[in-house]
Amino acid sequence: MGKMRAAVITSSDSGYAGEREDKSGPVIRDILTENGYEVACMILLPDDRELLSKEMARIADEGEADLILTTGGTGFSARDCMPEATLAVTERQVPGIPEAMRAYSMRFTERAMLTRAAAGIRKSTLIVNLPGSPKAVRECLEYIIPQLEHGLEILTGQTGNCART
Ligand code: MTE
Repeated sequence: MGKMRAAVITSSDSGYAGEREDKSGPVIRDILTENGYEVACMILLPDDRELLSKEMARIADEGEADLILTTGGTGFSARDCMPEATLAVTERQVPGIPEAMRAYSMRFTERAMLTRAAAGIRKSTLIVNLPGSPKAVRECLEYIIPQLEHGLEILTGQTGNCART
């Protein structure tokens, strides 16, 4: 696989206001690096649907990253809007990734069923929502990351359809 480029977006009102340190973004960055990805950018935004959508669309449209991983904003708080921001700018949904994440995460906490995380494709960029806590991020990302490579290779044209071999 050619080196894939990834962007990390943290959605957190308190992080953006400087009231809380973003610990989840760096956890994602470290796991990406360990898995051979180039981290193109790390972005911290408030839980604002318009701002989140705009940034995701920009990264995809400018081809800045093949993969966008987000953290936070997937729960039930009034301001949590990451799935809506993601689905507003994706052309094709990829429900299997968050489905697998939730199913696997039930072994850690049954509250895993409460994450509304979504995933989808815009142009040739895959966007995947992860929950907000560093613990949840690690549990979910370490589980899904081995399978992302094949999808990204197809998405970026580095390999053909897997069913045709
Ligand atoms: N998934 C895993 N693997 N581990 C966790 O600890 N926490 C859950 C869930 N998913 C959790 C998890 C909880 S308590 C919530 S409220 C939701 O993610 C939403 O998190 P968010 O609002 O921070 O995005």
